[in-house]
Amino acid sequence: MSSNDVDSVNSMNDMYKYQRYIYDITRKYYLLGRDHLLDDLNPAVAETVLEIGCGTGRNLIMAARRYPHAKFYGFDISNKMLDTAHQSICRAGLSDKISLAQGDASQFDLHKLFGIAGVNRVFVSYALSMIPSWRKTLDASLAAVSSEGSLHVIDFGQQSSWPKIFRVMLFAWLGKFKVYPRSELKMELNIRAENIGFDFKYHQLYGGYADYVVLKHLG
Ligand SMILES: C[S@@+](CC[C@H](N)C(=O)[O-])C[C@H]1O[C@@H](n2cnc3c(N)ncnc32)[C@H](O)[C@@H]1O
Repeated sequence: MSSNDVDSVNSMNDMYKYQRYIYDITRKYYLLGRDHLLDDLNPAVAETVLEIGCGTGRNLIMAARRYPHAKFYGFDISNKMLDTAHQSICRAGLSDKISLAQGDASQFDLHKLFGIAGVNRVFVSYALSMIPSWRKTLDASLAAVSSEGSLHVIDFGQQSSWPKIFRVMLFAWLGKFKVYPRSELKMELNIRAENIGFDFKYHQLYGGYADYVVLKHLG
């Protein structure tokens, strides 16, 4: 690991070493739209799904329950979050359905992490706003999508329908946790979709509280 990688691991471990115990219960109220994304994944029988920056494994567990015919993979840079995810997945009896690994979203190799070449669905939920090299993460995420697959991204939006004061206060509070909503997310994904010939769909959820973007391989 390079010193940058070690810094990123330490930074996320510091952030979540205690937070991970209350993460699922607290984030339920403000990481909105995650269930909308999970509803939309809809993998076919025997298809594969990858979550990048999977945290406590909350999304993977919900998705594996909802789509028992699919196989799930998740990775995160924080080994502490992964410890919590492992425990939750074991408790849920889903260890045979969900595989976990430690990796960096901006430069990962699915072969090295899981021994696979690509997946049918890739999703990134409220992680891009925490990853400094988020544009590289978009490229790496798209490279992991297999033919006829899709990439699904949910993250904080620009709060377009909310009063300005709400946006200012929310962004100031998020900044304390090194979370920076990406105002250029839509544009960056649209450019990539055009460049590689993917279908592009952008949705604002909850008055722009969250941005949900889907890029689909046209096959
Ligand atoms: C806000 S949490 C979201 C967790 C989960 N996706 C969810 O929706 O509940 C962001 C996650 O991204 C992870 N993360 C941050 N930087 C990362 C990176 N460079 N590579 C992989 N994961 C990263 C953090 O460790 C954390 O678990």
